[in-house]
Amino acid sequence: MLLKIHLILIVFTAGTFGSVQHNNLIIAVGDELEFLTDGNAYRTLTLNSYNATKLSSLAYDATTRKLFFSDQRHHYGHIFSVSLDNESHRPVEDIVEKNNNETVESLAYDPVNKMLLWTDGLNRAIRRVQIDNDPIHIEEKDGIEIVHFLENDAKPRGLVSDPCTRMLYWTNVHDSNPTIERSFLNGSHREIVLHSDLLLPNAFDLDIMEQMLYWAEDLHNGYFRIERSYVNGTGRQEFYRGMGSFIVSLTVGDDFVYWSDYNHKKIWCLRKDGSSRSPLSLGTFRNPALGLVVIHHQPVNCTMLSEDGQAEKSFAEKSEIITIAVCLTGTCLILMGIVAALIFRVWKSMGCQRLAFVSNKNEDDTFPFHYFDDYSNSYAMVEKATP
Ligand SMILES: *[C@@H]1O[C@H](CO)[C@@H](O)[C@H](O)[C@H]1NC(C)=O
Ligand SMILES: *[C@@H]1O[C@H](CO)[C@@H](O)[C@H](O)[C@H]1NC(C)=O
Ligand SMILES: *[C@@H]1O[C@H](CO)[C@@H](O)[C@H](O)[C@H]1NC(C)=O
Ligand SMILES: *[C@@H]1O[C@H](CO)[C@@H](O)[C@H](O)[C@H]1NC(C)=O
Repeated sequence: MLLKIHLILIVFTAGTFGSVQHNNLIIAVGDELEFLTDGNAYRTLTLNSYNATKLSSLAYDATTRKLFFSDQRHHYGHIFSVSLDNESHRPVEDIVEKNNNETVESLAYDPVNKMLLWTDGLNRAIRRVQIDNDPIHIEEKDGIEIVHFLENDAKPRGLVSDPCTRMLYWTNVHDSNPTIERSFLNGSHREIVLHSDLLLPNAFDLDIMEQMLYWAEDLHNGYFRIERSYVNGTGRQEFYRGMGSFIVSLTVGDDFVYWSDYNHKKIWCLRKDGSSRSPLSLGTFRNPALGLVVIHHQPVNCTMLSEDGQAEKSFAEKSEIITIAVCLTGTCLILMGIVAALIFRVWKSMGCQRLAFVSNKNEDDTFPFHYFDDYSNSYAMVEKATP
């Protein structure tokens, strides 16, 4: 009976705050691209007449339904694209040819100017190429422009662009002076967003609707952490701290943050609103997943992005309300548990007085713990079933 009330309360709490949904994801694992639907159904994307080697960074354009990917060990190309429109036929286009020592650490796509951008860590550059005619094939020297050529020892790594504000953000995993920086997509107005208390911000993404940057880094003591802040560097907070993982890729969906862990070859997710404490594994692979991207069905609707400040407030309010609700529900459940235990004790001691000769002290003492076990099991089950 009490258990039932708990279940109703939990379901009610979950229902009050709307349904939480997973985004579809594409994951670059070894020489394969995996498509993950609803957080549980995997299928491999077949690429026609293409021999992949080591797939890494990904970018997706919802306006043309094209996926861009880089292939680290491919003998003739750096960056390729494939249309996700047609299930049966997916020809791969070779976009940027490989002919010298350039690298591709991270890809970003700007649908407004049809521009593909990437970080070249080895040569300390952020490069771009216009993707306006179809098909496109570019030799490394022609058509490629440099957006930024960074100073000595800089190591650009993560890269994201914002089609609404026309901004570009990147991380610099410099050995002694790592930074998170931004500029306009055309390269002007470069500035440092964050420079203190950073170690190796290698996995990086932007939540466009909330105007928040997310990054993950290894803390060199067995711990890793995921942090977030508004795009101007304010409101910085630790989103999650864990142990024993090295995060290679991170992407932000509507309700969840997803990341890929090099050590355990797993994909993890955690709710953005802070309503769950521990991340959930979404699967283990044969190779570490080097790239991860959310597949949005629609291009970003920039009119839904509130004037600066508005989105920040609604986000802060939302997570505060949920935190309070979770605390209240928790307190309520604990109180009910205590009352139930007390009632049971009183009832039992009355029973024990009548049947003094069969009283069993041990059982009486351990009962509240039995009860607590039941409660936490049921809670865990419901929590797993709700997302
Ligand atoms: C892919 O590899 C197979 C076997 O090594 C080879 O026969 C085929 O020509 C390759 N295809 C392409 C497009 O490189
Ligand atoms: C890459 O190659 C170019 C020309 O081929 C050269 O100027 C540059 O120094 C090389 N960069 C590195 C990091 O080796
Ligand atoms: C770069 O882009 C920004 C924002 O779109 C614009 O205000 C600025 O004038 C541009 N600068 C140049 C040099 O084109
Ligand atoms: C974008 O959102 C606004 C406001 O919600 C809506 O009026 C408009 O139709 C949307 N545009 C598109 C292209 O969906």
